[in-house]
Amino acid sequence: MSAPQPRVATILKFSPPGMDADISGWVRTRRDSKQAFSFIELNDGSCMTNLQVVVDAGVPGYAETIKHVTTGSSIRVIGELKESPGANQRVELHARTLELLGPADPETYPLQKKRHSFEFLREIAHLRPRTNSFGAIARVRNCVSRAIHQFFQERDFLYVHTPLITTSDCEGAGEMFTVTTLLEPGREQAGFKPGELNYENDFFGKKASLTVSGQLEGEIYACAVGPVYTFGPTFRAENSNTTRHLAEFWMVEPEMPFYELPDDMQLAEDFIKFMIRSCLDQCPEDMQFFNDRIDQAVLATLQNILDHEFKRISYTEAIQLLEASGKTWEYPVAWGTNLQAEHERWLTEEHFRQPIIVYDYPRSLKPFYMYCNDDGNTVRAMDVLVPGVGEIIGGSQREHRLDVLETRLKECGLPPEHYWWYLDLRRYGTVPHSGFGLGFERMMLLLTGMQNIRDVIPFPRTPRSAEF
Ligand code: 4AD
Ligand code: MG
Repeated sequence: MSAPQPRVATILKFSPPGMDADISGWVRTRRDSKQAFSFIELNDGSCMTNLQVVVDAGVPGYAETIKHVTTGSSIRVIGELKESPGANQRVELHARTLELLGPADPETYPLQKKRHSFEFLREIAHLRPRTNSFGAIARVRNCVSRAIHQFFQERDFLYVHTPLITTSDCEGAGEMFTVTTLLEPGREQAGFKPGELNYENDFFGKKASLTVSGQLEGEIYACAVGPVYTFGPTFRAENSNTTRHLAEFWMVEPEMPFYELPDDMQLAEDFIKFMIRSCLDQCPEDMQFFNDRIDQAVLATLQNILDHEFKRISYTEAIQLLEASGKTWEYPVAWGTNLQAEHERWLTEEHFRQPIIVYDYPRSLKPFYMYCNDDGNTVRAMDVLVPGVGEIIGGSQREHRLDVLETRLKECGLPPEHYWWYLDLRRYGTVPHSGFGLGFERMMLLLTGMQNIRDVIPFPRTPRSAEF
């Protein structure tokens, strides 16, 4: 069986009536007319719209085959494209042959033609890509991935592959998954209980984990070859069952030598706008679907983001606004405390009604690697907050002064000898540099208007959930 050419998306856009087509895909619905012919809505995943297939009783094997052509079954049709009388499509396919590739028992196939809840679809993650929503999400994810590479490649950034297994905790938050072979049968250490494992005898000779960020390794390359970016999976063992957190997510992390914080913020703003424009340009049908069926404001929100500069405010100004808001907060607001989701969302959704960049956070709240301001209290951090999602980017200018960094590591309770290679970057040819991390799935939430991060990644990993 040869690969179908062209696919439905191309046929619906370009193929002229009179052309032959050979199409395989999955049946969404079938209607039989009394005059002994059937209409099949066929989807091959290349676009949201189905190809209408007309099969009349004269097609060989019609009577025998057509009754098995049910929702979810797979078929191959060869025939001729004809101008369609229907308003919704330019052409339809008139079958000469119809072949049933795989039936789908209507008694048990879970995706019958009706609306299913996202909760239900999460339980059938192996079938949910066959729905309109998840097909659209898959295509938009693909489009954004391409846009990410395009954005950085056009600016001469190098794509660097940073390791997934690491022996340092970049964020210093201790939310890491341990990678060990010590628990494999035959390798247990006599007398040791989990938690007392002697990692010197482990595979890497020391405690290793799945990475929470490629930043530290990104810095190594940025301080050698110029601007770089990573784009890969990231793991966090935080036990937060929210609609914004995954245990495995994808992060994009650019790192730029000679950039200071304002340059970093500008790149972050340009980057977000570029991804939005790419989706609007390249996936108009899917984006319209999100606006019609998922969030009636999503296109307006995205256009509003494109039309305005991101507002930049310091953490101190943000605290003042929150204190003056007159709202009662679940988490009290005070200088020196973390901005909670409720605070971030009020700022970006209610007060400014557009993306904002909050910078210069208290040094006690942020990791060791951020550049210390002269005031002694704040670091050159920046978070980008967007309506509907909250924090989508976290970044900073990096501390590139050796003595300050050593002091800072000690202040954070981290042993400097453990960071010897990171310190070497400051010892030899140090330069000011900056970077940030974008949560890819949070970007997907912004673009699609979807509410739950579990629904914008094909196979979500969250506490107690890793089935597929
Ligand atoms: O703010 P974070 O923790 O920053 C870093 O990891 C830095 N090392 C990045 C850098 O400067 N190179 O994470 C960056 C972004 C967040 O803003 C958020 O969008 C996303 O990653 N993120 C998560 N997304 C889904 N699930 C989680 N558990 C996430 N944790 C962070
Ligand atoms: Mg952050």
